[in-house]
Amino acid sequence: MDKIQDTIEILKMYNQDHIIKLLKKLEGKEKEELIEQINHIDFHQIMELYSNTKKEIAIKENKIENINYLDKAKLSPDQKAEFDSLGEKVVRNGEYAVVTMAGGQGTRLGFSGPKGTFKLDVYGKGKYLFEILAENLKQANEKYQTKIPWYIMTSQENNQETEDFLEKNNYFGYEKENVIIFKQGELPLLDKQGKLLISKENKIKEASDGNGGTYASLRLSGCLADMKEKGIKWVFIGGVDNVLLKMVDVTLLGMAIKKGVSIASKSVVKANPHEKVGVFCKMNGHPKVIEYAELPEKMAEETDYEGELKYGESHIMCNLYTIDAIEKVSKENLMYHHALKKNSYIDENGKEIIPDEPNSYKFESFIFDAFEFFNDIAILRGKREDDFAPVKNKDGVDSPKTAKELYEKYWKKQEKLAKEF
Ligand code: UD1
Repeated sequence: MDKIQDTIEILKMYNQDHIIKLLKKLEGKEKEELIEQINHIDFHQIMELYSNTKKEIAIKENKIENINYLDKAKLSPDQKAEFDSLGEKVVRNGEYAVVTMAGGQGTRLGFSGPKGTFKLDVYGKGKYLFEILAENLKQANEKYQTKIPWYIMTSQENNQETEDFLEKNNYFGYEKENVIIFKQGELPLLDKQGKLLISKENKIKEASDGNGGTYASLRLSGCLADMKEKGIKWVFIGGVDNVLLKMVDVTLLGMAIKKGVSIASKSVVKANPHEKVGVFCKMNGHPKVIEYAELPEKMAEETDYEGELKYGESHIMCNLYTIDAIEKVSKENLMYHHALKKNSYIDENGKEIIPDEPNSYKFESFIFDAFEFFNDIAILRGKREDDFAPVKNKDGVDSPKTAKELYEKYWKKQEKLAKEF
């Protein structure tokens, strides 16, 4: 009884009277589960996030500078050989792990399953995004005579479907014992008045807390401990939807080792000022990525004396960390960003409402917000045609059509190069 009363007090304190009504209506297991869920929610944090939605994000431009990078295509043969040899040693020693973030929803693509289960129409037969990633890792294993552990982050929502899919497809030939699937966290959604949404299951509606949750989820799931036990020293974290993603780039790894930094990232030049990618910069002396939705127009278009975009180094979700860096940021509170999205809910009469307009706030932390906790980052500029072919939108730019073209072109070039040698 006390537990119920305590729960009601919390809900009252945070003006969630509609949830009190729901709680009073429910019985047995459903009631217990709702109480349990409420007790897991950090209401103070949620209300703070809600009040932040009313504030403007201020980016003080005077504290921002462009960032240094090395262009992979312009490294001297000696420099490249040195980086490659440093990186290769780590990979060959079994000190390298890969994490794929596969918890996103793929809304823009208009695909309802987990994005990794999307089949790209390449070479007639087609290949799943997970299959393309598995092939990339298998090639690295072969080349460096190792077995890289592959950690895949799913969401609460798509976890089962992802597990079933990978099992059914025999992990695309990757040894099952080297594939570790873990789940990311969630946060409640709030309507425009700061009220929690009710789901069809009579629960408080929650959604993934963004890819910045990767670090904490790695620790909380035990994956970080598992990596340490395996003697992992460097961890790659990448997205699920770039069909040219190089998850084992020994040049990037060697560059990070040589520079003595704890984090590194591959970039490509931004295609145009308004391309939907985050861009690297330095803010208050620390590395930072400003996401496309938050980049002021003036900064997006600013050019340097050579006419190149001043903030043109794109973040392509190709990031590397020392294991200590992961541990450090897994314990930090990353900032949260909010987005107004369409989410269905159950109203006070028990009726499901499917909104036509965005009606609720989703809170997400971003993977790159962890960069600010470091003094420096090694950035290696790659080539768009070799490194970046994302599947984001149903049509137009970054669509299955453009990714297919880039993927087939890249592999044709590789075949030609292999024949020449
Ligand atoms: C992302 C980057 C952007 C970058 C672009 C390059 C973020 C916030 N933005 O944008 O800087 O230039 O990719 O392609 O990362 N994911 C989860 N859980 C979540 C949310 C996302 O695992 O809760 C995963 C997705 O499955 C995907 C990756 O994170 O692998 C990127 O997420 P997405 O929402 O598609 O980011 P973009 O808007 O494309």
